[in-house]
Amino acid sequence: MQCAVKPITLNSITMTVSRDLFPKDFKWGVATSSFQIEGAHDADGKGPSVWDTFCEIDGKIADASNGHVACEHYTRWPEDVELISRLGVNAYRFSMSWPRVQPDGQGAWNEAGFAFYDQLISALEQRGIELHLTLNHWDLPQALQDQGGWVNREVCGHFTRYAAEVARRFGHRVHSICTHNEPWVIAILGYEQGIFAPGIKSRTQAMQAVHHLLLSHGMALKAMRGLGLSTAMGIVLNLSPIYPASDDPQDVAKAHLDDGLILRFYMDALFKGVYPQDVMAHLGSDAPKVQQGDLETIAQANDFLGVNYYTRNFSSCGNPWDVTSTGNTVTDMGWEVYPKGLTELLCRLHTDYQPKCLWVTENGAAFKDQMVTGVIDDAQRLAYIRDHIAATHDAIQQGVPVGAYFAWSLMDNFEWASGYAKRFGIIHVDFETQKRTFKNSALWYQKFLSEK
Ligand code: FCB
Repeated sequence: MQCAVKPITLNSITMTVSRDLFPKDFKWGVATSSFQIEGAHDADGKGPSVWDTFCEIDGKIADASNGHVACEHYTRWPEDVELISRLGVNAYRFSMSWPRVQPDGQGAWNEAGFAFYDQLISALEQRGIELHLTLNHWDLPQALQDQGGWVNREVCGHFTRYAAEVARRFGHRVHSICTHNEPWVIAILGYEQGIFAPGIKSRTQAMQAVHHLLLSHGMALKAMRGLGLSTAMGIVLNLSPIYPASDDPQDVAKAHLDDGLILRFYMDALFKGVYPQDVMAHLGSDAPKVQQGDLETIAQANDFLGVNYYTRNFSSCGNPWDVTSTGNTVTDMGWEVYPKGLTELLCRLHTDYQPKCLWVTENGAAFKDQMVTGVIDDAQRLAYIRDHIAATHDAIQQGVPVGAYFAWSLMDNFEWASGYAKRFGIIHVDFETQKRTFKNSALWYQKFLSEK
């Protein structure tokens, strides 16, 4: 389905979608995460997280950087709140650093850490911006990793207590609480491939970590709901449509299995209370140990499902898929730009799982930016965001209950194993001076949002 075309221009870029095509109560936001922007890694009693530790390991971070300073958001937050407000968004998605508010993940609360989030939330509340809080955007307290991290079932209880405490303090002031951001990334990149924190390479441990992430999601939801809050609660997954690289039956079977490992394993557990049989059989002795009642706990009703979408994937039994073969633009991460995949994904999730509400909780692109006389003409990022907003609209037109779009990211930040070299921000950050500058993509978004 095509979107209505309403052309207006910004530096000769045509707008092909407009805000008034969306429901009035649609949430328009930008997203960030604690480790990627805060810095202040050991300030005011904060404990180390697994990412602080991981950054110390030689060769793990492309530019040998770390999160010690990042965007200095911990001290520059008033300016950042101003920028968020100037963009004209009505929603902000951010995460809380668990070790900032509970340094060892299981002992005393750190009041100074909570005070930081209290101030931030107040400032955004005053500007009428809805808060969308994520409890775990990967920065697990290192002290819990020392006990096995997400592989140790006891972490579920610790996470649940942390979730309940945060909900008790802030639940009535935030619009939504998300338990985990992208459990697949935490478990598979962190515990199977070893390219993200904590850098372990074991499929058995990774699958146990997946199970504990999902279980702790269900436990936390139960505990937080027990507080009688009306706050929306859910989880955020990284999802992509996966296509076979050819019609060879082996590629088709591989694509189905890969979809099982990346999408169905999580969605079936969360929305149907089962792990898919074919994936469990494929995992064999690496399948997670599941106790009676676990899947029932995992399948709590979610008020929303957050979808982080960046690109589509192809599966092949032969040579890896050549991302340039489609002729589509490829981002600085090497990811193909494919907006239609977002429409397809949202439609499929709605058909197969019927979440109450779907939110695009992350979407954006890294490109190499150039500042010329103070202007960053990031036409490719602008087009990326515009076309994915249009793709979101297409899904709504097809009857999918999509309620939010959050651009990733508010500003350039620490892009995990890629360090500071990959820039996803719609606002540029000069990491020498910490100066923030609106890129043209931010100016476009601001203009788009101003047309009510
Ligand atoms: C997602 C992460 C987010 C950011 C983007 C580019 O997987 O949730 O923190 O790094 O990728």
